[in-house]
Amino acid sequence: MGSGAAGLTLALRTADFARVAVLSKGDLNQGATFYAQGGIAAVLDAKDSVASHVEDTLTAGVGLCDRDIVEYMLGNSEETISWLVQQGVPFTTNSGAGKSQGRTSTDPSDLSSLHLTQEGGHSHRRIIHATDATGKAVFEALQARAQAHPNIHLIEACTAVDLVLQPTTKGAERICVGSYVFNQRTDSIELIKSRFVVLATGGASKAYLYTTNPDGASGDGIAMAWRAGCRIANMEFNQFHPTCLFHPHAKSFLITEALRGEGAKLELPDGSQFMAKFDAREELAPRDIVARAIDHEMKRLGCDCVYLNISHRSEQFLKTHFPTIYSRCLEFGIDITRQRIPVVPAAHYTCGGIVVNRRGETDIANLYAIGETSFTGLHGANRMASNSLLECFVVAFGAARDIESKIDGTPFADQIAPWDASRVTDSNDEILISHNWDELRRCMWDFVGIVRNDARLHRAQRRIELLQQEVQEYYSEHRVSNDLLELRNLVLVAELIISSALQRKESRGLHFNLDHPQTDAVAKNTLLNPRKTSPKSA
Ligand code: FAD
Ligand code: SIN
Repeated sequence: MGSGAAGLTLALRTADFARVAVLSKGDLNQGATFYAQGGIAAVLDAKDSVASHVEDTLTAGVGLCDRDIVEYMLGNSEETISWLVQQGVPFTTNSGAGKSQGRTSTDPSDLSSLHLTQEGGHSHRRIIHATDATGKAVFEALQARAQAHPNIHLIEACTAVDLVLQPTTKGAERICVGSYVFNQRTDSIELIKSRFVVLATGGASKAYLYTTNPDGASGDGIAMAWRAGCRIANMEFNQFHPTCLFHPHAKSFLITEALRGEGAKLELPDGSQFMAKFDAREELAPRDIVARAIDHEMKRLGCDCVYLNISHRSEQFLKTHFPTIYSRCLEFGIDITRQRIPVVPAAHYTCGGIVVNRRGETDIANLYAIGETSFTGLHGANRMASNSLLECFVVAFGAARDIESKIDGTPFADQIAPWDASRVTDSNDEILISHNWDELRRCMWDFVGIVRNDARLHRAQRRIELLQQEVQEYYSEHRVSNDLLELRNLVLVAELIISSALQRKESRGLHFNLDHPQTDAVAKNTLLNPRKTSPKSA
């Protein structure tokens, strides 16, 4: 389920030994992957080392990363980039970037020819990119490969609703045998039987009013996995990206961190710089620190945004390195070669998710989760820039190997009951859905944002509980639509975020609570278990 970096990689790595159906609830390119800008973190420079990348990741994650997982993921970065180059991803080379960095090769299969840019928290230049549209380049290359593969069936406009589980022959434990999916073209619910189900459904940042994410980031995989009985971890760590374009007509447009990597400075409305007050690394401090600094300054001054200024770099440099940002800003009347860019923080990345191991295995047999929907332990309390795409590929590789090792002993289930729609009627009041969507996202933004306190979290919890009751009632009585399915999932994910935030009685990384400003000596993950807590949204 999912046609982003994780889902397409899994499909390509399994298609030589299995038939694969790849579902997307919209067009294939509607996930976050297509919009990724900065790049993919990988150690390719002889002066860099995996050990240094590991230390940077552990520092950004504020004591909560799983060291073994970090070493495993980052240790696989070179193999990942090599595979992507073989798939035809047109990464920017040193000659393409107009800069040699001491290298001369222009052959992209020679990994040392790839241009490396810089992002926050990284102590070396180690971000491999395709100008400022890395996600689009990756998506298009993988999609082309998937479309050409006879064993891969790409299915658009199909929204997974819930997983189908059956008891195993051995006893009480259940296995995943397929899923019910809403076919938007026929307006009906269908059953897809499968030997393995892989959730690659992306994150949940749409729970917040302002986000860099596309509309579909409603945490569907996390919600389905919870309803099926999987543990969910660390949902309080929702990452806010410091720099989203602030313009009344710009919906969710990110201004990549690589701009700061290449020298952009953050400024207050009066033109003064402020990051040095907050961290010695200034603009290149990890994201939680930069986002909180901006939030602090905006609240202190009562201003609507701060500014990012890179106008000191040459016009040619900016047009070559950041063509997407240059042209998109120009559409809004901002010439980044001369003017500064108005920016605000916005919800960007879900660090928590479905608990999995390095092979993407969940708590339920034959059910995997990979990419942003999952929780591997890589990101800790704050994901470091450009580590997430890497995680999508590395865990997809591991899941594919695991499925290959099990596929011969895994038959299809014989009998699965079809979806029962006999007790629901057509919706007569769609406006309720959009009102509840707005209310939920506003509530999360106002009370569960960058800086939290207990009173606000409790207030949010009460409101979300009420919304859950309303959505659940509506869902049980009416035929489904895509918006209703997403709202049902989002309201559950919002509950998980708030419950996790209330459980954490300290401040760490992305979770900052004014009532508990200290960081505890021992770092612990927040684990929610649906088998122990009764979920309010069934
Ligand atoms: P996605 O790419 O989000 O794909 C999710 C897929 O699941 C979609 O196909 C969707 O249709 C499908 N889906 C969802 N729900 C259902 C359902 N119920 N039924 C069927 N299908 C469903 N990370 C980096 O490492 N480097 C970057 O430079 C970077 N830049 C970013 C820029 C932006 C603007 C954003 C938003 C994120 C960025 N990130 C970056 C984060 C990174 O892009 C994502 O974490 C990553 O792309 C997630 O990939 P994914 O395959 O897990 O999910
Ligand atoms: C960016 O380009 O700033 C986003 C990078 C990321 O989210 O990893």
